[in-house]
Amino acid sequence: MSTRTQVGIVGAGPAGLMLGHLLHREGIDTVILEARSREYVGARIRAGVVEQGIADILIETGAGERLGREGLVHQGIALQFDGERHRVPLSDLADGRTIVIYGQTELVKDLIGLRLETGRPLHFEADDVSVHDLETDRPLIRYRHEGRDRQLECDVVAGCDGFHGVCRPSIPTGVLSEFSREYSFGWLGILAAVAPSSDELVYAHHEHGFALLSLRSPELSRLYIQCRPDEDPAGWPDDRIWEALQTRLGLEGWTLAEGPILEKGVTGMRSYVCEPMRHGRLFLAGDAAHIVPPTGAKGLNLALHDVCVLAAALTDWLRSGDAAALDAYSDTCLRRVWRAEHFSWWMTQMLHRAEDHDPFDLKLQLSQLRYVTSSDAAATTLAENYVGLETV
Ligand code: FAD
Ligand code: PHB
Repeated sequence: MSTRTQVGIVGAGPAGLMLGHLLHREGIDTVILEARSREYVGARIRAGVVEQGIADILIETGAGERLGREGLVHQGIALQFDGERHRVPLSDLADGRTIVIYGQTELVKDLIGLRLETGRPLHFEADDVSVHDLETDRPLIRYRHEGRDRQLECDVVAGCDGFHGVCRPSIPTGVLSEFSREYSFGWLGILAAVAPSSDELVYAHHEHGFALLSLRSPELSRLYIQCRPDEDPAGWPDDRIWEALQTRLGLEGWTLAEGPILEKGVTGMRSYVCEPMRHGRLFLAGDAAHIVPPTGAKGLNLALHDVCVLAAALTDWLRSGDAAALDAYSDTCLRRVWRAEHFSWWMTQMLHRAEDHDPFDLKLQLSQLRYVTSSDAAATTLAENYVGLETV
């Protein structure tokens, strides 16, 4: 069976769904193919921090109605080290800009809902997806759906299929330059049915390793502890998790409230960028092209930014044949990607205890943390990166 569309989108994560949404608003036809089931995609717990600029775009384009209502606006974060907690007043330092706490899971559910309302194709459980003829003006996606082999002819293919997807590996060897860094640690993340013990996120540096207190709602806490990258969550019964969190986040005169753990999982950490984010008629967006460690809360924001740039560029090109923005797509995105790569790496190395950690590293980390929490200039650097730089 063969069908045609203007933009074939591989992957229904935040990038693929938002791209479909933005292009639909411009009257451009898309088909979205997703390997997993709707239930799986709508249940995966990931990021939680949305930059104000990205939240504004979601709202302006009609995808942020619930985010606007239920998202929690934060104006600061805390850095904790050496037994003290220091507030970084993000909004005071970054022209009043804020962050919005809203789970990626919820955003994905909202975007799926919008897509289904349009009646345009969003095929879950698409198997054996492969992309072909990328160097021609009729690229092709082959896949299997509901027991039948199918073929989708496109003007362009958008590879929004995450880091382990099929699009990036379909680019011939030698075309891409790849840049990466592995870390000797990961995060064990939990979702707990307990009111967050702090109004704002707390990033804690501790001799046992990093911990983060975050949230999803006034009733749900999201917490992370540094662990080994290959750690088996089964080795972390609930008591052990709370004990580690109490040790790393504990402070005189403050208690971390505990509650039932609803979900736990381990995330490895990596920095990765491929350049360019395009090959012929294939455009990569989001995690398919770049990964950051979660310490800077940038992964979701970068993915959404990429597709905003891509949607505008595709609209120009498909409407009027003007390819200038499309030809600049990779360079435009990579400027912001590299800023986020640096910021995420910087936050990560400032806050974690590396495997080969020595006393010199510890002294440097503590000095950096003291500087960031005592100098307005240093705190402003953190704040403007954290809330998201518009132009770099
Ligand atoms: P994804 O969300 O990965 O979506 C890609 C989609 O493509 C998926 O639905 C996948 O099933 C689908 N797909 C893959 N292969 C195929 C195929 N062959 N055919 C069709 N579909 C395919 N960022 C933060 O800022 N904070 C966090 O706390 C945080 N936690 C994370 C935890 C985990 C476990 C992971 C993996 C990432 C986390 N991130 C976090 C990063 C953030 O969630 C990502 O940057 C964001 O999901 C990127 O969106 P995306 O749409 O580009 O990719
Ligand atoms: C989250 O709430 O999941 C979260 C918050 C901040 C981060 C990473 C993850 O840096």
